[in-house]
Amino acid sequence: MIPQWIIEKKRDGQALDPEELKFFIEGYTKGDIPDYQMAAMAMAIYFQGMSLDETATLTELMMNSGDLVDTSSIQIPKVDKHSTGGVGDKVSLLLAPLIACCDAAVPMISGRGLGITGGTLDKMESIPGYRVELSEKEFVDVIQQCGCSMIGQTGRLAPADKKLYALRDVTATVPSIPLITASIMSKKLAEGIDALVMDVKWGKGAFMKTYEDAQKLAQTIVEVGSRMGKGMAGLITGMNQPLGRAAGNTVEVIESMEALKGNGPDDLMEVTLELCARMLMLVGKVQTKEAGIAELQKHIDSGAAFERFKQMVELQGGDPSCLDDYSKMPTARIQKAFTADEGGYLSQVSAEHVGRAVIILGGGRSKTDDQVDHAVGVTDIAKIGDQVSAGDTLLTIHANDEKKWEEAKQMLAKAFTFSKEKVTPEPLIKEVILPKQ
Ligand code: URA
Repeated sequence: MIPQWIIEKKRDGQALDPEELKFFIEGYTKGDIPDYQMAAMAMAIYFQGMSLDETATLTELMMNSGDLVDTSSIQIPKVDKHSTGGVGDKVSLLLAPLIACCDAAVPMISGRGLGITGGTLDKMESIPGYRVELSEKEFVDVIQQCGCSMIGQTGRLAPADKKLYALRDVTATVPSIPLITASIMSKKLAEGIDALVMDVKWGKGAFMKTYEDAQKLAQTIVEVGSRMGKGMAGLITGMNQPLGRAAGNTVEVIESMEALKGNGPDDLMEVTLELCARMLMLVGKVQTKEAGIAELQKHIDSGAAFERFKQMVELQGGDPSCLDDYSKMPTARIQKAFTADEGGYLSQVSAEHVGRAVIILGGGRSKTDDQVDHAVGVTDIAKIGDQVSAGDTLLTIHANDEKKWEEAKQMLAKAFTFSKEKVTPEPLIKEVILPKQ
């Protein structure tokens, strides 16, 4: 096969055969197809799109480009969640122990934060000693013992995606629904799961800015996973304002622990319980969402989910005592309120600006090799619809540097918009997408 003839076919809007995709992906992973030809192919896919059949084939090829986690020794159903990411999205920290308490396993391979979206690994590394790099054997052992484990991507998981994602990043070909689908799903399905719930965030603080794109991505992911024999559900959830009242690393771990102890903010609990209930339905643990939520609530009320999280932390080398005594986690030197200049109802709390403020403080990354400061971030974030008076706290900034506190404050001044009229926030869960057949 001749690579440029296959590129030409896609450029002209034709569907590629499985053999042509195989030749391309295998050749690219081995280094036989150079970056310039793969970049041209990515751009052709960006403009011409792909059918569901092509997207499913591409996903499978990318998944099989490396090792698959062997979870066959885990006898209970294995289910995971993936989110396209957002500001304050700490759902994974609550979801993994909650599902583990319901006799299903969560083999969660997560990422780091980049841009305004935070990453589960960075949050977990706020816990002193917690190891995100485990061998496959250690990963499976932790799941056998406590039902869940949260680790980082191993070197041999979907290497085709690792190479292709870096190339897409520098060739303006990231925002392509088939390429995003294959990228996300090749990594998730390599975890050896039976079912997956996808949380596609939509709004100004999300990767998908328009509702139509979020819907199309969720539909494509759900269909591709379903064709590959996995139980699938997709949720479209709002990300115009941050989720919960904290954004950063330690501060999000603390908010998550409080949520597991029964003191979670309403929006965080709504998204978490809906995603968890859908996971339980997919693996046949409950028949209805309501039954799922009732079951999950029991594990919060009894303290079992919090204990399960502590057990996972201890098994992965972390210090569980810091989840009761938060002062043992990295703490910022400066914690000062950012207050309202005027009164009214909050009509916008921009996730984008809050996310940028966290990056300014040092709690996020603008480049993949940036180090994060786990101590910094924001807490007590006011929510859309709140009524505030001049001088009221809109949020608390946690900084380790006076100058950065000032810079973050200037960014945050753009985050809040006030209205004289009462404001009703939009529903957080916009749509649930299930496979067509
Ligand atoms: N996240 C991924 O893992 N891949 C993409 O292509 C986009 C977001």
